[in-house]
Amino acid sequence: MSKPGPVESLTEEEARRELARLSAEIRLADAAYYREDDPHLSDAEYDALRDRNSAIEARFPHLKRKDSPSERVGHEVSEAFSKVAHGVPMLSLDNAFADEDVAEFVARIRRFLGLDDSESLTITSEPKIDGLSLNLTYEAGVLVRAATRGNGQVGEDVTVNARTIEDIPEKLGGKTWPDKIEVRGEVYMTGAAFKALNASQEEAGKKVFANPRNAAAGSLRQLDVAITRSRPLRFFAYAWGEVSEPFAATQTEAVETIEKWGFVTNDLFKPHETVDGLLEAYRDLAERRAMLGYDIDGVVYKVDRLDWQERLGFVSRFPRWAIAHKFPAERAVTKLESIEIQVGRTGTLTPVARLTPVTVGGVVVSNATLHNEDEIARLDVRPGDMVEIQRAGDVIPQVLGVVDPDDNRAPPFEMPGECPECGSAAVREVDDKGEEDVRRRCTGGLTCPAQAVERLKHFVSRKALDIDGLGAKQIELFYGHGVVKGPQDIFRLADRIEAAGLPPLSEWEGFGETSARNLFAAIDARRSPPFQRFLNGLGIRHVGETTSGLFARSYLKWENFWDTVKKASQGEEGAEADLLSIDGVGQTAVTSLKDFAAEPHNQDMLTALLDEVDVEDAEAAASDSPVAGKTIVFTGTLEKMTRDEAKSRATALGAKVSGSVSKKTDIVVAGPGAGSKLKKAEELGVQVMSEDDWLELAGL
Ligand code: IVH
Repeated sequence: MSKPGPVESLTEEEARRELARLSAEIRLADAAYYREDDPHLSDAEYDALRDRNSAIEARFPHLKRKDSPSERVGHEVSEAFSKVAHGVPMLSLDNAFADEDVAEFVARIRRFLGLDDSESLTITSEPKIDGLSLNLTYEAGVLVRAATRGNGQVGEDVTVNARTIEDIPEKLGGKTWPDKIEVRGEVYMTGAAFKALNASQEEAGKKVFANPRNAAAGSLRQLDVAITRSRPLRFFAYAWGEVSEPFAATQTEAVETIEKWGFVTNDLFKPHETVDGLLEAYRDLAERRAMLGYDIDGVVYKVDRLDWQERLGFVSRFPRWAIAHKFPAERAVTKLESIEIQVGRTGTLTPVARLTPVTVGGVVVSNATLHNEDEIARLDVRPGDMVEIQRAGDVIPQVLGVVDPDDNRAPPFEMPGECPECGSAAVREVDDKGEEDVRRRCTGGLTCPAQAVERLKHFVSRKALDIDGLGAKQIELFYGHGVVKGPQDIFRLADRIEAAGLPPLSEWEGFGETSARNLFAAIDARRSPPFQRFLNGLGIRHVGETTSGLFARSYLKWENFWDTVKKASQGEEGAEADLLSIDGVGQTAVTSLKDFAAEPHNQDMLTALLDEVDVEDAEAAASDSPVAGKTIVFTGTLEKMTRDEAKSRATALGAKVSGSVSKKTDIVVAGPGAGSKLKKAEELGVQVMSEDDWLELAGL
């Protein structure tokens, strides 16, 4: 199909085709919105289609179709409910978007009524409720029929369903009312009720609703009235249709009267004398919108005097005496240009949608978050798709889903297995319960530019290398100048500065002779970092201060430890079991260590770093204890303390507690019920002792 251009440049033939297309498209959109309660267009897009249709009709009036959307309100009625004709048609409201449109609306009314500037014109404002309109017919003060708007002339009979709504009186209260009256208003659902409904729908594996409006519509149009009754629907009365006799002189008076009859009316209804007053009400409601507890999509302005409403009358589908001042659309459809991966400062890979810029809620949006790969799979969004996006307040825009995916889409998106910043492997962690983290993380740590600054700050921090005078500020400074990119560069700082062609540190702003000298001295003082601090400083996930301490006290020598880690990362089960046998060390930490060690960037960094520093051996915590440095295995039932306590006491004395017996085992402490481990110890000739003997030996 040819690409439709701006209305001004359409040829007659193009205009004819365009009107046919728009008629069909609006009909489809109406059906989805009104009949299926499942809109596929945003309000803004829908309005744009109708506006374009009207603009083409204005330019080519003779091409206006018999089935023109500008003559249609809403949809054809659904077959499931019987049809009822409204006493007076239910019309729609024209839209205003800009302040100028409101000024023009008021000016038009003044012109139409021939009011001069000195004559006051009261116009009311009230929220435009985002629900579905309902027409309630009362005869002799009794509810006889409830009907949806339908196509404006004929609606659906939902009387039994409407009777379940508490806000709708069965009988009119107050003293007098017209013998026959159609009271009109909006059925809606509060935000809280909508959330609760969706939660229970989801739990029951049933369809969840896209928004409160759809939930309200779906709940009202139920063939099973028990379902409608179970749904907390509300109703605001704001208008009327057919009346057997006049019952008020102004909109204000009418609304007050309707309220006296027992309806709920909106308490944000207000009269105004000026355009500025209307605009102030609009801004006020826009601000309070999020706190109202129910959805509104604009403000409705109405001429207060009913005799003037009568004189103003209607143009096609809209009254001249009212207009809807819409809030800017907060959803829009645009093209997903690409999916890019951002790496956060702690290594999390976040997919970001790059969009063809589009205005959402008055703001141009060109990026939206896709959260993680599971979310992308759930939405099945692919580059090139048209996507619906949503912007709520200051929140980062979100992608809601794909609109009309076509057949030649890109293949499903796959999250990269490597970090786009540094090329290191990016992995999803599996926790001790076997559950996969939704986030994918870069294993590059210190070698990844996206993470480097944070990691370097950690490396020099108090619980790691603890370098005096080298804190977050200095790291940022050195990193910014490109002289410290990895931890090894800290120990070559003077050379790196010189190689970069920068003046010596003593000449830098904020440094003098003394502070530069002190900094170099502080760095040199850390050339033999203790095992625990060094390991902690590497910033490997799940290997923090405590776990680093466990490894240090267990392996004592860095080389022994790192050898084991490397072997484990190459798949040696014995090595992995060795790491895991340490009390307090879990699979998560070991997997994370293996991932780190398997990454070539990390290997290179570590080699360079170890060229600069000698990791100091850890000391067995209590080297004078006879069990220090010994590998102990507990088996059978312990009677004096729990297994956990026994392990932690032994570790505190510098022993290494293992879960399995091997040649390396020094002592097996066997309680009642000891089985295979005891047997193995005997076979290997490992020393076996009772719990009491152990307590005595350990001095406990
Ligand atoms: S007055 C002749 N007041 O908006 C016009 N309508 O886009 C009578 N709506 O069909 C309608 N809140 O469903 C009016 N405070 C309000 C409204 C309101 C919501 C809906 C109504 C109407 C649609 C027009």
